Amino acid sequence: MPRLTARERREAYQREYAFQKKHGKSFFPHAVFHDTIVSLIVVALIMGMAVLWYAQFGPVPEIADAAREGGILGPAYEGKADPGVLRYDPRPEWYFFFLFELLRIFKTPELLIVGSVIIPTIWMVLLIGWPFIDRNPDRRLSRRPVALAVGVMVPIVLLTLTFYGAKAPGAVGEASTAPGAAAFANGACSTCHTFADAGTAGNVGPSLTANAVDYETALNLITNGKGGMPAFSAQYNEDQISCLAGYVATHSGAAAGKEGPEAATAAETYPASCEKAGGEFAGTAAAG
Ligand code: HEC
Repeated sequence: MPRLTARERREAYQREYAFQKKHGKSFFPHAVFHDTIVSLIVVALIMGMAVLWYAQFGPVPEIADAAREGGILGPAYEGKADPGVLRYDPRPEWYFFFLFELLRIFKTPELLIVGSVIIPTIWMVLLIGWPFIDRNPDRRLSRRPVALAVGVMVPIVLLTLTFYGAKAPGAVGEASTAPGAAAFANGACSTCHTFADAGTAGNVGPSLTANAVDYETALNLITNGKGGMPAFSAQYNEDQISCLAGYVATHSGAAAGKEGPEAATAAETYPASCEKAGGEFAGTAAAG
């Protein structure tokens, strides 16, 4: 096809415009009518699903204390929310796993803003600005190496993040019945440390499932803090700290197949501190 001059293009456009103005359909009422019909269909669909749900599962019993399977429409209903639960395991819907993983990459509190605000903002600005940045009218892929590379990279990165986000250990388990476990799980420690024995899944500090830590090191760290680890000497008394350190020394390192280096001796002595500390520290009896 021969290339048209600017003037020819303008004339062709004006011919087309005049033709459509005369013979085309106007926005009102034609397009408005279509939109109304489609909206009504969507509303009817939602109402139909609600009726279907109620016919199958309703009414919800007064005491709905467990989730009930509902098939393809998702759970029929879930147990009532319990405001007393301290260790809720917040996991996003699958389509947010990539953001979830992004947050897990930036662990320290100072870097968190990179994953939570800075990268998503850059991304949104890029999306909005893209038509202004990329003005290349060519549609052949071989002439658009940069756009092609970006177009391939973005889904790969998103899928990878989604994959690892889905695999991320986040499941909050039950705390064991060892003295100190409940205090570790329900106190501040759980927000930063993964520790299988206590059923916690924090990501800020090292995993105590993986690392075996001895009593002296743990005692010193909990008392005085170090780096990203806060000092707890103001918050906990000596017995409480000794109890937590003993608990860590006897139960850390399980994943590596080791026990805390002084597990044998500490295991005998530390429950006494927990007993003196009382409350949650004393073990299952007082937990909760
Ligand atoms: C604000 C987050 C945070 C909290 C809360 C926290 N820790 Fe830590 N913890 C860390 C960080 C970060 C480190 C690594 C410190 C370093 O070596 O620089 C650490 C290190 C440790 C270590 C040594 C781990 C190793 O592999 O050497 C132990 C043991 C420990 N913490 C126990 C506890 C206990 C017990 C509590 C609760 C009383 C607790 N932590 C609360 C962040 C935290």
